[in-house]
Amino acid sequence: MVLTVSDVTKTLPQSGLERPILDRVSLHLEAGKSLALTGESGSGKSTLLHLVGALDGFDSGEIRVDGTSLSVLDDSGRAALRRSSISIVFQQFNLIPSLNVSANISLQAKLAKRYDPDWEDQLAQRLGLAQLLARYPEQLSGGQQQRVAIARSLAMRPKLLLADEPTGSLDEETGNAVLALMLDLVAESNTALFLVTHSPTIASALDRRLHLSTGGLT
Ligand SMILES: Nc1ncnc2c1ncn2[C@@H]1O[C@H](COP(=O)(O)OP(=O)(O)O)[C@@H](O)[C@H]1O
Ligand SMILES: [Mg+2]
Repeated sequence: MVLTVSDVTKTLPQSGLERPILDRVSLHLEAGKSLALTGESGSGKSTLLHLVGALDGFDSGEIRVDGTSLSVLDDSGRAALRRSSISIVFQQFNLIPSLNVSANISLQAKLAKRYDPDWEDQLAQRLGLAQLLARYPEQLSGGQQQRVAIARSLAMRPKLLLADEPTGSLDEETGNAVLALMLDLVAESNTALFLVTHSPTIASALDRRLHLSTGGLT
C-alpha cells in the first residue's frame, strides 16, 4: 500500500472556535492506482491533500506513505520523504519563478537523484512543452504553467502523486486530454495518484472515487 489514512482528524480555528475540518477520515491507495476525491468547496479536500503530502500536521489518527508513518517524522524526515517519494501538483502550480521550464521540471528529480533526461524529454513532448523549455514561468499562460507543474510532478517518478484540481486552469477539452495523458504516465511509472477534482467526469476516469462532505468520507 503506498498510502493509508486511518481515522485522521484535523481541527482548525474558525471565528475563534476550533472546528473539525476532517473527522475520522480513512482511505487507502495501492501502487499504480488512482483515487479521485470530490466534495463541495470548503469540505476539506485541499486540507486532506496537504496532510497526506506531509505539509501539515493533524490531531489524531495515522497517515502512512510508502510504509512510513508521518507522525513519527520530524521536519527533516518529512522533507526527506517528500523529496524521495511524493510529488504534488498544487492548485496554484507553485513553479519557481527564477528557474526556466526545463529547470523547474528537473529540479525535484535531481534532488531525488532520479533525474532521467530521456524521461524529461518524453514528458515535455507529450505535454506539449518542448518549445517552451527555455522560458520562465511568468512568460507562460496559466494552462502552460499547469502542464509544467504536471511534468515536474512526474519527472522523479514519485511513489505517490498528489494533485489538487490539476486541470482546473485548462478548458474542458484540453483538460480531458491532459488528464488522459496523466493517467497514462502514472500507469507507466506505477505511481499512485490521489487527485482532487470537482468534476464528476474527471472523477469517473479514475480507478476509485471518494466524496468528502462536512468532514467525513462517503
Ligand atoms: N489555515 C487555515 N486556517 C483556518 N481555516 C482553514 C485553513 N485552511 C483551510 N481552512 C478552512 O478549512 C475548510 C476546508 O478548506 P479546504 O481544505 O481548502 O477545502 P476545499 O479544498 O475542499 O475547498 C474551509 O472551511 C476553510 O475555510
Ligand atoms: Mg481546495
